[in-house]
Parts: sequence; structure tokens; C-alpha cells
Amino acid sequence: MPMHEANRMLRLPPYLFTIVDNWKREVRTQGVDVIDFSMGNPDFEPPPHVVQAMREALKMKGIHRYSKFDEEIERNLRRAIAKWYHGRFGVDLDPDKEVLPLIGSKEGIAHLSLAFLNNDDLALVPSPAYPVHFNGVIMAGGILYTIPLKEENGYLPDFGSIPRETTRHSKLMFLSYPHNPTTAVCDLEFFNKVIHWGHDKDIIVAHDLTYSDIVFGPKRAHSILEVKNSRKFCVEFHTLSKSYSMAGWRMGFAVGNKDILKSVAKTKSYVDFGLFRAIQHAATAALTVPQGYVKTLVANYKKRIDYFVDGLNRIGWPTKKPAATFYIWCKIPQQYGALTSMEFTELLLRETGVAVAPGTGFGEMGEGYIRFAMVVSEARMKAALGRVKDFLQRKV
Ligand SMILES: Cc1ncc(COP(=O)(O)O)c(C=O)c1O
Repeated sequence: MPMHEANRMLRLPPYLFTIVDNWKREVRTQGVDVIDFSMGNPDFEPPPHVVQAMREALKMKGIHRYSKFDEEIERNLRRAIAKWYHGRFGVDLDPDKEVLPLIGSKEGIAHLSLAFLNNDDLALVPSPAYPVHFNGVIMAGGILYTIPLKEENGYLPDFGSIPRETTRHSKLMFLSYPHNPTTAVCDLEFFNKVIHWGHDKDIIVAHDLTYSDIVFGPKRAHSILEVKNSRKFCVEFHTLSKSYSMAGWRMGFAVGNKDILKSVAKTKSYVDFGLFRAIQHAATAALTVPQGYVKTLVANYKKRIDYFVDGLNRIGWPTKKPAATFYIWCKIPQQYGALTSMEFTELLLRETGVAVAPGTGFGEMGEGYIRFAMVVSEARMKAALGRVKDFLQRKV
């Protein structure tokens, strides 16, 4: 019997990262030692006290049951998130109404679109972007209006370029700074402009603050909720995947406008039963103790970035150091400029065993770029640099 996927699935662009995964599998079976920079999947260990809290939680009474909003573990986590937010951004949140734990932020971002978009509702989504920002819209039946993020504008959106009618009909907009994949950061002034722009429109602004902690240099990342009146139409997404190297645990949260969060929670209640209670207990431990782990983590990523970017420049691949995130967003080397980012990614992998993410995996505006994720050790980076050097020196 032929299986016909729903039209909403057929409207999705091909998930390019699956194609890259298939190439990786193929070259591995040919005996190639793949050095994998393609996915933002942290290789550092989570904080030991969090793992210990998890161990202890597994023995607690009732820990294996479904999660319930009113129980102590759940209440403690929401309070810990609110307290962390206050300490980090000076933003006060009602833990019961303005905090929503998520099974990873990706889940929550997809459910936000599902909760609010009718078929053919418009959503404003920057390109390049983390893929669930646009794929979530498509899966919910919405229509994408792509806001191009250009290097010459610091990868910030130009709101003036969006036609007035488009804005008027848009229900949702996504933003994310520090930005994956471009590594761009924004200041509070930018968020002030966003809130000024959005205050008289019927639009939800969703800010993805996944990389809030991984920032280098004097400036810190800002919460959009630091801006007055932002809570009228904004929500913000967070995760423990990056700051605490807990990607596989699936622990994220959303904060902000209570009515928006209520609708996301309602949508989720038809789909999932919340987070494993032991994960909630351990996540509370991650957010409550002094944040020395995060400081060390950021220093370790910075060390890797310095090593790798200096190396790329030395071997003839001009590259800038990022201000934030653990990614390196690189133009395809000039001599390969005729290739698409997918073609270049495939060639690089097949010729060197070095796996990267193609820029177009993040949307059409990613064309001409590839992304390295700093999730491999310095020793493996050294090996990768050696292979890429030989590759660049070959005659094209
Ligand atoms: C910008 C951005 N948002 C969300 C996510 C997903 O995070 P989580 O593991 O919480 O689903 C990622 C993961 O790479 C990301 O880069």
C-alpha cells in the first residue's frame, strides 16, 4: 500500500542535515575517519553535581511517575528558572504563570507555531536561522515570510524592508541572538527597537536565547524581556543543552507572556506528559548552584575557537572569530566559490573526512557559507586542519 505523507510534510524543505548524516555514514563504511564539526552537539561532560543529583533523583519516591504541575519537584524547577532569570537578566517572572519547562527548546518552538498559526497564517522568520524556526511554521500550515539577515547589517533584520501589508497579516516572528549559525550578537538597543516596532501590531515575538551564556568579550547577551512592555507580546526560549552540555537530556524552558505560554502548554498537553521528573530535579541543581561550570565551559570553547580560527587563517581559509556561540561561520573558500554550500560540504567530506554543516541547512540566505561546530577536541582539530590544508592546496 502506498504511504502518502500529509501535504504539510511534503511542503517541508529537505532536511539537509539528514543528507549530510547519510554521507557521513557512507564514507565511514568506506573506512574514512570522520572528524565531525557538523552538529552543535556538545562533547563536554555536564556538571558532576548535576549528574549526582540525577543519580539521587532516580531513587526518590514517585520519581518514575508522570510529571504533575503542582508537585514539589516541578514547583522547585519553575522557581529555580525564575530565580536564575532574575540573577542573570534582572527580569522578575511569576514561576507558575510565566515559566514553562520544555522537552528541549526545539519542542517548544515547534509547538508555539502549532498553537498559534492557522493554515496560511503568515510568520516572519529570518534566514539563516535555526531550522525549527521555519520548519515549525511549515509543519503548522503557516506561510513563511523570510527576512534576510545580511552580513553588512550585522545579521540583524531590517524591519523597514518588510511590506506593511505583510507585517499587518503576520501572527508570529522569530528572533535569536546570539545567533546560530552566523554567531552575531545584538545589544539592548536592538530589542528596544523590536518592542517599539511590535507594540502596535498583533504579533507574537519569540526570542530564542539558546546561547545566552556562550558570549566572549565585554558585552553580555540580553533577554528581550529586559525591555519595558515586552511581556505584552514576547516569549523567550532557553535550554540547558549548551550552557550545561546536557543536549541529550532534553531540558529547555520558555518564559514570558503568560497567555502565550498557556496556549503552548495546552498544545503540549495533547501531545506529551512533560519532562521526566528526575531530569527536572537535576535541572534545578544545574540552575541553582554558582555558575563556575559555565565560566570554565566558555573559556574552553574560546580556547578551541582561537586554536581553530587561527589555524584556518594560517592554512589560507580567511575566517573571523565569533563574538558568541561555539560556531564558526565561514565563507566557502574562493577557489570553490562556484559550488553550492551542499556541493562544497559533500566534496570536503568525501575528500578529507571533515564534516561541516552546509549554510543552506539554515535557509536560503546561508548559501555561500558553511558552519563548523567546536565540539571536537584540540587534537582532532589539529588533524582536521592538516587534512583541510592539503585539500586547499590542491589544484581545483
Ligand atoms: C538556536 C537554537 N535553538 C534551539 C536549539 C535546540 O535546543 P534544544 O536542545 O533545547 O532543543 C538549538 C540547538 O542547536 C539552537 O542552536
